[in-house]
Amino acid sequence: MRRGLLIFILVNLLILTFLVRSVSTLLSLLVEDAAADAIHRAELPSPNSSLIETRPQIIPKIIHQTYKNETIPEVWREARQSCIDLHPDYEYILWTDEKSRDFIAAEYPWFLATFEGYKYPIQRADSIRYFVLAHYGGTYIDLDDGCNRRLDPLLAYPAWVRRTVPTGISNDAMGSVPQHPFFLRVIELLQQYDRKWVLPYITVMYSTGPLFLSVIWKEYMQDKPSEAGRVRILMLDEYNKFSWSFFTHHTGNSWHGKDAHLIFWMGQHWMLLTFLGFIVAGVVGICLWWTYGRIMLLGARYRYRYTKVPTIISPRLSSSPSRRARRMMPTLLRRVSFKEDEEVGGTTETSYELDRHDD
Ligand SMILES: *[C@@H]1O[C@H](CO)[C@@H](O)[C@H](O)[C@H]1NC(C)=O
Ligand SMILES: *[C@@H]1O[C@H](CO)[C@@H](O)[C@H](O)[C@H]1NC(C)=O
Repeated sequence: MRRGLLIFILVNLLILTFLVRSVSTLLSLLVEDAAADAIHRAELPSPNSSLIETRPQIIPKIIHQTYKNETIPEVWREARQSCIDLHPDYEYILWTDEKSRDFIAAEYPWFLATFEGYKYPIQRADSIRYFVLAHYGGTYIDLDDGCNRRLDPLLAYPAWVRRTVPTGISNDAMGSVPQHPFFLRVIELLQQYDRKWVLPYITVMYSTGPLFLSVIWKEYMQDKPSEAGRVRILMLDEYNKFSWSFFTHHTGNSWHGKDAHLIFWMGQHWMLLTFLGFIVAGVVGICLWWTYGRIMLLGARYRYRYTKVPTIISPRLSSSPSRRARRMMPTLLRRVSFKEDEEVGGTTETSYELDRHDD
C-alpha cells in the first residue's frame, strides 16, 4: 500500500498547488499592508502649511465624479458641494450615463460593447472612472465622499489610490496623471475580468470594483514599477479620520445588496472561516483517503479471486517461498482471500493456500 499512499499524496498535492496558484493573488492580498508605497504622514504638509506651495503638482487639476444624470440626490449634495467649494480653480466634470457612453464610443470604441453589456449600472460607474483617469488624469471622488481640505498635496504623486480594510485598495477616491501605466493596465484588463459570479456583489467587486482593482494593483506591484510608474497609497488616517485628513465620509455605498452583508460578515470573521476551511479540508482529505482505500481493496479482491497460481512447490515444504508470498501480499488481502481456498481443487490453488499451510 505504500506506493498507493504516495500516489494519493502526490495527486492531492497537485490539486492543492493548482488551487493555491489560482487564488494566490487573492491570498497574498490578505497579508498585503501596502507599507512599501504608503504616503507617509510626515511627507504630507498640514492643511495650511507653506510647504504645500513647494511641492510639484503633476496631476491635472480636474475633479471627476459619476452619477446617472445631472440630478444629484439630496443625500450627496452637501458632500459634492464641499469638494467644488474647496477647489474653485479645479475643473469639475460630472460623468453622467450619457456622457460616459459618448466618451467611450469616441475614445475607446473597442470597449463599448463590454461597457454597454455590463449587467449592473455600478459596473459602468466603476469602469468609466478608470478610463477618464487614464485619459485626462485628475482626481476621482465618489459622491459620498466630501472634501475636508484641498487636494493639492496629493497632486505631487504620479498616481495614488487609497487603502481599505480589511485588505486591498478602494476605487472611491484616486488620482493619476494622464496615461499612467497602472491605469492603462487597468482599462486594458477590464474585458478579461468581465465574468459572472454567483452573487451579484462578487460579480461587481471582481469585474470592475475594488477587488478587481486590488488584484490588478497587487500584480502590477510585482513588476517593481519605476518611480514614475509607482502607485502611492493614501492610508486610512489621511483618508478621513482626522481634521487634517483629506476626505469626510458621508453615507454608505448606495448599491450594496443583501449579499453585501454576507461578504462583510465573512470579511469580519475571516479568521474563523479560515479555521473552518482547514477543518473541512481535513475531513474531505480523510474521506478521500478512505474512499481510495475501499477502491483499492475492491480492485484487489477482484484480482485475487480470478488469479490462480499453479502449485509448483509442495505446500508442506514451501515455508520460504510462502513467506515471500505473504510479504508481497498486503495484510488486508490475505484475510480477504481466506474464504476462497476451500473451493479450490485440482492442480491449482490460490496464493493464500500456500500461506495457510505454512502456518
Ligand atoms: C486653515 O485656514 C483656513 C482659512 O484660512 C481656516 O478656516 C482653517 O481652520 C485652517 N485650518 C487649520 C487646520 O488650521
Ligand atoms: C434623473 O434620474 C432621476 C431618477 O431616475 C429622475 O427622477 C430625474 O428626473 C432625472 N433627471 C434628469 C435631469 O433627467
